[in-house]
Amino acid sequence: AELVFSGVQPTGNLHLGNYLGAVKRFVEMQERDAQCLYCVVDLHAITLWQDPEALKGQIREVTAAFLAAGIDPKRSIVFNQSQVPQHTELTWIFNCVARLGWLNRMTQFKDKAGKDRENASIGLYDYPVLMAADILAYRATHVPVGEDQKQHLELTRDIAQKFNNDFAGSILAHGHGEGFFPLTEPLIGGPAARVMSLRDGSKKMSKSDASDNSRINLKDDADTIAQKIRRAKTDPDALPSEVEGLKGRPEADNLVGIFAALRGISRDEVLRDFGGAQFSTFKPALVELAVATLAPIGAEMQRLVADPGHIDAVLADGSERAEAIAAPTLDAVKDIVGFVRRG
Ligand code: TYM
Repeated sequence: AELVFSGVQPTGNLHLGNYLGAVKRFVEMQERDAQCLYCVVDLHAITLWQDPEALKGQIREVTAAFLAAGIDPKRSIVFNQSQVPQHTELTWIFNCVARLGWLNRMTQFKDKAGKDRENASIGLYDYPVLMAADILAYRATHVPVGEDQKQHLELTRDIAQKFNNDFAGSILAHGHGEGFFPLTEPLIGGPAARVMSLRDGSKKMSKSDASDNSRINLKDDADTIAQKIRRAKTDPDALPSEVEGLKGRPEADNLVGIFAALRGISRDEVLRDFGGAQFSTFKPALVELAVATLAPIGAEMQRLVADPGHIDAVLADGSERAEAIAAPTLDAVKDIVGFVRRG
């Protein structure tokens, strides 16, 4: 059966890239009637220091964004990672499966650790192994993410495969099928798999960019959204009538991609309507579409975070349901590895 898992870090400034590349697609998976688990990955967040006072608010804010975007916590399981101990338990076992050489290739670690690598936390280095544990604790088959997570999902498959091989005999001896862990499929795609900065078409839109004008935050009000789009960097040419014409025009390509993703159509379809148009025509249309889509989500988020009791109850219920799926997996893993368990 299909089982969908994905996660979002509660590190503040949830933005349009997170929405179009991930959260909006979480809702689409839910509509396809798959069992979906959507996780606020607070253990991942602390791989870079987080202010403890702020962290709780950030966790509730991501939860609110999930709900405001249309994730139904009755149909999908909405929870935070630290409430389900199986994530960290499985991480340790995977730490003993994953190879140093595999982690040394992870580009996100290199980016986040920067030049002062000696001073990066062990957690930041181990981040992708925790991510594999998130996914495989539920033996998830599909993971919707943005393009930047591709390498981490390849590592998840490598870990699953090596575990299946290293313990092949024990897996069969304990009555499990050969592929105990599935080789999880990444779902990366659509016109907004990689939303770029509004100020620099060569940089990814990111939570940590110093310029707030580089991104549209889900919490921005209508005026702020409009202003950021009006100020977004462009080139002086009219829009082309075919996607090939977007090559070498990263800012134009990005805005067309955002329009397409917001409308649920392809870049081609956008250019069918706007080919030949100047940005002075296209930008107001994009403003109208972005405000109509995002402002209600932002408003609903504000409404939801005003009632932290409700949010916390959603997370507690989701965590309990998540644990009910992950606990039997961990029991089986402990048997397979050869541990002695309590009755
Ligand atoms: P995070 O919080 O950095 O990002 C959350 C999701 O948003 C996507 N994303 C983007 N998509 C398009 N354009 C962008 N500019 C952009 N920026 C971010 C990310 O690809 C991601 O899908 N490691 C994950 C969190 C995680 C996870 C998991 C995901 C932890 N465990 C297990 C899937 C499965 C991350 O970076 O989240």
